[in-house]
Amino acid sequence: TELVFSGVQPTGNLHLGNYLGAIKRFVEMQARDAQCLYCVVDLHAITMWQDPEALKGQIREVTAAFLAAGIDPKRSIVFNQSQVPQHAELAWIFNCVARLGWLNRMTQFKDKAGKDRENASIGLYDYPVLMAADILAYRATHVPVGEDQKQHLELTRDIAQKFNNDFAGSILAHGHGEQFLPITEPLIGGPAARVMSLRDGTKKMSKSDPSEYSRIALTDDADAIAQKVRKAKTDPEPLPSEVAGLAGRPEADNLVGIFAALRGITRDEVLADFGGAQFSSFKPALVDLAVETLAPIGSEMKRLVADPAYIDSVLGDGASRAEAIAAPTLDAVKDIVGFVRRG
Ligand code: AMP
Ligand code: TRP
Repeated sequence: TELVFSGVQPTGNLHLGNYLGAIKRFVEMQARDAQCLYCVVDLHAITMWQDPEALKGQIREVTAAFLAAGIDPKRSIVFNQSQVPQHAELAWIFNCVARLGWLNRMTQFKDKAGKDRENASIGLYDYPVLMAADILAYRATHVPVGEDQKQHLELTRDIAQKFNNDFAGSILAHGHGEQFLPITEPLIGGPAARVMSLRDGTKKMSKSDPSEYSRIALTDDADAIAQKVRKAKTDPEPLPSEVAGLAGRPEADNLVGIFAALRGITRDEVLADFGGAQFSSFKPALVDLAVETLAPIGSEMKRLVADPAYIDSVLGDGASRAEAIAAPTLDAVKDIVGFVRRG
């Protein structure tokens, strides 16, 4: 059966890329009646220093974004990672399965550590192993994420495969099937798997871009959205009538992709309507669509964060339900690895 898991870091500045590449698709998976777990990955967030008071607010804000976007905390399990100890515990065991060479290939570490690599935290380096533990503690089969997480999900598959291999005899001896850990399917796709900066179509829209104009925040009001779309970088040509005509036009491609994802249609369908149009007529249509979709989410987020007691109760309830799934996995893993257990 399908078990869906995904996570979002509480590092502030949630944006349109997070919504279209991830959160909107979490809601779609929930509608497919799969068991879904959506996690605010606070252990991942502290791989870069976070102000403690701000971190609490950011954890509640991501939770609010999940709920405001349509994740139902009764149907899906919504929780924060640090409340479920099995994530960190399984990560340690996976640290002893994953190879140094595998982690050395991770491009996100290289990007985030920058030039001063000697000064990066060990946690930042180990980040993808914890991510594998997040997924495999629930033996999740499907993981919806943006394109930037592809390499991390390949590592998750490698870790599952190596664990299944290294402990094959013990897995069988304990009465489990050969594929004790599933080889997880990444769900990456659609027109907004990689939303780009509004200021530079060759750079990913990111929480850490110093320019506010590079991203649409989920909490932006209608005026802010309109201003940012109006100022978005474009080229002087009208829109092409086919997707092939977007090649070499990263900004045009990005805006068309955003429009398509917001409407739930393809780039081709957008161009069937707007082929030949100037940006001066396409942008206002995009503003209307973005405001219509995002403004209600933003205002619901603001309403929810004003009630931290409610948010915290959702997270607490989610953590108990998550732990009820993860604990038996960890029990089995400990038996398989050969630990002596409490009687
Ligand atoms: P993060 O904020 O890094 O935890 O990312 C949360 C989710 O949003 C992950 O699934 C990312 O792949 C996705 N995401 C982040 N930035 C973008 C982007 N610019 N376009 C599409 N998806 C993104
Ligand atoms: N690394 C992901 C990101 O930055 C967040 C994440 C952590 C995640 N654990 C996960 C995503 C498990 C999917 C599954 O976007």
